[in-house]
Amino acid sequence: MLSLHLNESPYRVPAHILSRVLRPEDLALNRYPPRGAPRLRGLYAAYAGVRPEQVAAFNGGDEAINMTVLALRPSVRRVVVMPPTFPEYSRAAALAGLEVVRVPLEVEGNAFRADTQALLREASRDPSLVFACLPNNPTGNRVLSEEDLGRLLTVRPRPWVVVDEAYWEFAGGTVVHLLERHPNLIILRTMSKAFCLAGLRVGFALASPEVVERLDETRQPFNIGALAELVGSAVLTDPSYVKDVVVRTVEGRRRLSEGLAALPGVTPLPSLTNFVLCRVPHPAAEVEAAMRDEGVRVRHYPREPALARHIRITVGTVRDIDRCLEALRRCLDVRA
Ligand SMILES: Cc1ncc(COP(=O)(O)O)c(C=O)c1O
Repeated sequence: MLSLHLNESPYRVPAHILSRVLRPEDLALNRYPPRGAPRLRGLYAAYAGVRPEQVAAFNGGDEAINMTVLALRPSVRRVVVMPPTFPEYSRAAALAGLEVVRVPLEVEGNAFRADTQALLREASRDPSLVFACLPNNPTGNRVLSEEDLGRLLTVRPRPWVVVDEAYWEFAGGTVVHLLERHPNLIILRTMSKAFCLAGLRVGFALASPEVVERLDETRQPFNIGALAELVGSAVLTDPSYVKDVVVRTVEGRRRLSEGLAALPGVTPLPSLTNFVLCRVPHPAAEVEAAMRDEGVRVRHYPREPALARHIRITVGTVRDIDRCLEALRRCLDVRA
């Protein structure tokens, strides 16, 4: 089965980086890892262009989302999300017993955009925590401009604003420069995408030192395992392969989008990520099932009415892309 439904990288971390650090005789796995993964955190700070005290390390972006909600819960009444977006935000909010307020994205032609007026209204109603995924999963685009993000950060009363930059490397833009000016901003990152390390489970929050302290008090003391700290630190001392992964992914994204646009009734949406959302001419659930029969997993959204005819496809290798396009062509032919 070809897995194009989880936005993983099809590429592996270069073996020479791993073999340098994964020597059984050097691994003291009988010991607890250092609390707070200081080495990993320091190296990621340098990569992100912030100070180490502005970084908290987690078991993947998912844990970063959950811990951010838990850490801020005492000062928050509701969590504002902009569906269709990453479902973990609402799940984390519901688990924490917080009200979830949905401000659906608006559709402008083919593109999804934040309903800025409604967002500002909802964000400033009660003490709120807003999640903005930039670029957004699953729509693939930047749904909120930097100007509107600035308005969101300064609306009164001030909301907490979490910007999830899981895919920022593929988009080439970050809002890290806003951190110093806005202590209510938290940026989430992951090593699961451009770093090709979904299996390692490493993610980060970038925020003011005060917020990082709250996050550190909330997370479990030894949340980052010794192997994750070791491998994460090794790739961060030699991250040049990430650039290569980004170049190949962006080329693949173009190939996939062009191939999709050439299929009858299929419209790919512009993407800044390692996946492409596309409109298909039949109910998405049917297309997804037919693709599975063809041996290709893609993602559909049975709970999102706005995406009843959309599927999301991860950018794989050139071979994966061609195989996926062929499979989709066959699925559409059968239903034509
Ligand atoms: C927007 C977004 N944030 C966070 C994550 C979680 O990433 P991980 O937990 O693998 O770091 C994902 C995973 O697909 C995602 O799409």
